[in-house]
Amino acid sequence: MLSDSFSLSSITRGLSTRFIGQRVIYLPSVTSTMDVAREEAQGGAPEGTIVVADEQTAGKGRLKRSWLSPQGSIALSLILRPSRAQLSSLIMIASVAVSRSIEQVAGLKTQIKWPNDVLIEGRKVCGILIENNVVGEKVHYSVIGIGINVNVSTATFPEIQTIATSLSEELSREVSRLNVLRSLLVEAEKLYLGLSNSTPVYHQWRDRLMTLGKEVRVKVGEETHEGVAESVGPDGSLWLRRSDGSLTKIIAGDVTLRG
Ligand code: BTN
Repeated sequence: MLSDSFSLSSITRGLSTRFIGQRVIYLPSVTSTMDVAREEAQGGAPEGTIVVADEQTAGKGRLKRSWLSPQGSIALSLILRPSRAQLSSLIMIASVAVSRSIEQVAGLKTQIKWPNDVLIEGRKVCGILIENNVVGEKVHYSVIGIGINVNVSTATFPEIQTIATSLSEELSREVSRLNVLRSLLVEAEKLYLGLSNSTPVYHQWRDRLMTLGKEVRVKVGEETHEGVAESVGPDGSLWLRRSDGSLTKIIAGDVTLRG
């Protein structure tokens, strides 16, 4: 293993952000960084606080799935306090920031599967889970959970072996988790601050989506929709063209490619 285990000072030393990652809660092992971040956010933690763990024992995925976070992966939760109007951009910020950090540090090309899985050559390398606490129009906090397979052998986990990959598997060498994390924090802040300067992340996110133009199946709760993923909206929704010519707008769901 690379000797780049996390520590508070290794993450924050010389980090060129204003607030994202300037307060770090580092835990060698935790059930889920989401639980810790939620409590911190409720307790008034400043915006930009991150919770980072070397491993999670009960990592959470989207749609109530579990998420594997062994040693060698990155498990991160970031606390933000966006406006109501900015909420739908968070999935875009997170997935574009992860893509850029992987490209910068590992030199690997990434794509995004709607809404926010990051893939390399069609295999998932990162999952993102967002929890918002909203009352009326007021956003109390958002927690962005990001899991990246950095130095992970997916063969050790038969349940994900055929659909997942890791940076070390793609490159046949280990990659610095610390560099990926620090780059991710910088990129996330740039994109987040860009929202207030009318530099929407939407176009960058849309340009990286591998889903567009493809025949897809989208699971939304108990329902399954099929069609061509025609476009996405600035609110993050997916527009599906059905075989009868009609268009369906999908706010959230789980996409698989057909054929
Ligand atoms: C998914 O693709 O289903 C989302 C996975 C999100 C995983 C991350 S790892 C850090 C944070 N803590 C968790 O328990 N989940 C998120």
